[in-house]
Amino acid sequence: MNSYYNTDNGAVQYFIGSDSFQQAEKLFSDYPFIYILIDENTEKYCLDILKKALPGLKIRGYIKIPSGESEKNLERASQIWEKLTNFDANRDSLLINLGGGVITDMGGFCAGTFKRGISFINIPTTLLAQVDAAIGGKTGINFMSIKNQIGLFCDPEAVIINPVFLSTLEDKYWQSGFAEILKYALIMDRELWNILDMRRYSEIDDWEKIISRSAKDKIDIVRYDKMEKGIRKNLNFGHTIGLALESFFLKKGVDITHGQAIAAGMICETWISSKMTDLECVKVDEIIKMIDKNFSRLEISENDIPEIIDIMRQDKKIRDGLFRFSLLRRLGKAVHDIVVEPELTEKSLLFYINNKNCD
Ligand SMILES: NC(=O)c1ccc[n+]([C@@H]2O[C@H](COP(=O)([O-])OP(=O)(O)OC[C@H]3O[C@@H](n4cnc5c(N)ncnc54)[C@H](O)[C@@H]3O)[C@@H](O)[C@H]2O)c1
Ligand SMILES: [Zn+2]
Repeated sequence: MNSYYNTDNGAVQYFIGSDSFQQAEKLFSDYPFIYILIDENTEKYCLDILKKALPGLKIRGYIKIPSGESEKNLERASQIWEKLTNFDANRDSLLINLGGGVITDMGGFCAGTFKRGISFINIPTTLLAQVDAAIGGKTGINFMSIKNQIGLFCDPEAVIINPVFLSTLEDKYWQSGFAEILKYALIMDRELWNILDMRRYSEIDDWEKIISRSAKDKIDIVRYDKMEKGIRKNLNFGHTIGLALESFFLKKGVDITHGQAIAAGMICETWISSKMTDLECVKVDEIIKMIDKNFSRLEISENDIPEIIDIMRQDKKIRDGLFRFSLLRRLGKAVHDIVVEPELTEKSLLFYINNKNCD
């Protein structure tokens, strides 16, 4: 499935599918000075693909940073600004962010702040970035060990989503991106759930269709609510508990992916949904079966629960000490801003640990 997707106000152009480069080609001729942000992996695996697909690209320079979440920091950002300065980049320049979510988050932030903003285009090269990080205008860096503490909403000129890059992706990053795809199916896209058809991510052979559908789901949400005042909050399903689990394991020095944490969060929050909304137990069991098929359970014990709850209390989205969740009302439909008592949150973690069926 190939498509060109324009937003209502014409702000961001989306090119999705295997012919997305040809469709987007014209865009680049507007920019006499093009710079490309890469890391060592996207330099190795993605740059040649891009150059071959767009042979006319007038590349003026490369900015290369080391890969990894720990590089999404102020020091690296300042090196990117330094490079742009040395290149004499200006308002006629274009920065292409070629990489995963770290590159698109940090590249967008640096472009958005350099000389009060130069143009940038995201070309995401991981599954997670293609269906999530590169879409929606949230850019930023981590600061004082807090994720995305410094950043801004800033739209790229375009996002080019081409599955050609994914063949070199490590298995754990396929799995990680798949958690967000499951999330779209659960919160807003019952048809996507049917397409996934209880498969494991490694069994999927129709990625192009699934990526395109997931990316469009996110585009639709951010088009209506860019600033996360309402419906965009639905994207936080699985993330209230999931992000706390991600921090918990980070503190312990245990390396887990974002997707693994979100998968665990979605199990807990699906169970909470059944207590707070009309979601039936039979659906809870179906959803959890699918998540378990794709992710093994994280190792947490009952004794870890107070610490996890404590981490949740520090979440920047928590106001007046109340936990507000985005939950499922049914399979394919979410609601946001549901206040959940800490006790129920604790019970959901126990439910996760004990690996029981819904009751
Ligand atoms: N802005 C948003 O709305 C948003 C949403 C979700 C996640 N994020 C952010 O995204 C980041 C995670 O993104 P990610 O999972 O893409 O991580 P990542 O950018 O670290 O990429 C994962 C790894 O894959 C490598 N890689 C990239 N493309 C490759 C390819 N085609 N072949 C082989 N290797 C490749 C990278 O070098 C890296 O080592 C986090 O910082 C998260 O905060 C942002
Ligand atoms: Zn996420």
